Amino acid sequence: MRALVTGGAGFIGSHIVDSLLLKGYEVRILDVLAGPVHRGGRKPAYLSGEAELIIGDVRDKDAVLRAIDGVDVIFHEAAEQGYMQNYSKFFHVNSVGTALLFEAIAEKRQDVRKIVIASSQAVYGEGRYFCAEHGNFSPMPREIQHLEQGRWEHVCPVCGRAMGSIKAEEAFINPNTQYAVSKYTQEMIGFNLGRRHNIPVVCLRYSIVLGKRQSFYNMYTGILRSFAVQLMLGQAPVIFEDGRMQRDYIHVDDVAEANMCVLESAGADFKAFNVGSGISTDVLSFYSEVAGCMGSGLKPVMNGEFRVGDVRHIVSSPSGLQRLGWSFSRSVHDMVSDYIEYLNKAERVDDCFALAMKEMKEKTIIMKSMQ
Ligand SMILES: NC(=O)c1ccc[n+]([C@@H]2O[C@H](COP(=O)([O-])OP(=O)(O)OC[C@H]3O[C@@H](n4cnc5c(N)ncnc54)[C@H](O)[C@@H]3O)[C@@H](O)[C@H]2O)c1
Repeated sequence: MRALVTGGAGFIGSHIVDSLLLKGYEVRILDVLAGPVHRGGRKPAYLSGEAELIIGDVRDKDAVLRAIDGVDVIFHEAAEQGYMQNYSKFFHVNSVGTALLFEAIAEKRQDVRKIVIASSQAVYGEGRYFCAEHGNFSPMPREIQHLEQGRWEHVCPVCGRAMGSIKAEEAFINPNTQYAVSKYTQEMIGFNLGRRHNIPVVCLRYSIVLGKRQSFYNMYTGILRSFAVQLMLGQAPVIFEDGRMQRDYIHVDDVAEANMCVLESAGADFKAFNVGSGISTDVLSFYSEVAGCMGSGLKPVMNGEFRVGDVRHIVSSPSGLQRLGWSFSRSVHDMVSDYIEYLNKAERVDDCFALAMKEMKEKTIIMKSMQ
């Protein structure tokens, strides 16, 4: 059996590659070795020599035609990610890249057994909230005016009181950033064209994935790398808003196992699943875990900065995938300590943080509350 992993040189893709090799698959990777993740476009040292690497773009039809040749299953991980304002690139890489994959399969009459598409928790947008008196709401993104006043929480539109966050279930979608909309289009393209060509498609909506191999150089996003790299460089990390945002984290090995689970389960076909822990951890507690693990007493900087596009709270329920037999087994402590170990083994880590922050402030992606 032969598998293709697009984006297989990246953080999650490379773990999927290793899982497939362990299962006896011949593995091919299609990856453009994009920056800033792959500094200087260099092939990462962690990449298995047993996998074939095609350096190419998912937007390049010739490269895609070569990559799908003879493959039975495809894991589509390559994506444009983050908060930057190159809006069209999110749709070129994520939406058009996914459509092109199906176009190439149709043109080649390639007999593909399954396609697993990496989606994201981002498709839930702000998620859902409840007010004890007035019921459930799906709020729109918080207004910049409110964030500038340090009004971080979603409040009930009827009574104005603070609301509680509801764990995201697969049925409620409300994407509202360029990244989130493009990830949701990948799902729709996948399900639609998968049915048209009789190829089972599964979409996995990852929560925040952590573990070794996450690049040290993409300082535009990524909570663990930014806290850990800054602490290692002796800098106090910045925490946005008031640090009380609830998130859920999942170990990259559990994510690779989720991919293997849906590969082998016919019950997963043409469905989307959350791949998260369902356990909410606020950013301040997460920071304490990282600082504790690194033996650092540095206090974070909390000066009212916020990132436009961040949601206030989002935690995904993993019950859908658990019903298929998947479960996660690694804790936040495991994720953090694995990453710190990986960081400590790095020969050299350059400081890219200041430059990324400067660019995000100039573009008003990072702003500051007036409180
Ligand atoms: N890391 C997370 O927390 C997280 C959360 C939700 C969803 N996801 C999704 O998981 C997938 C993998 O993310 P990751 O964290 O491993 O990111 P990553 O940046 O480490 O890996 C992505 C890989 O895709 C490659 N790539 C990017 N653009 C490409 C293009 N045009 N053509 C070919 N290759 C290209 C990059 O070179 C990189 O190797 C993505 O689809 C992402 O949207 C990740």
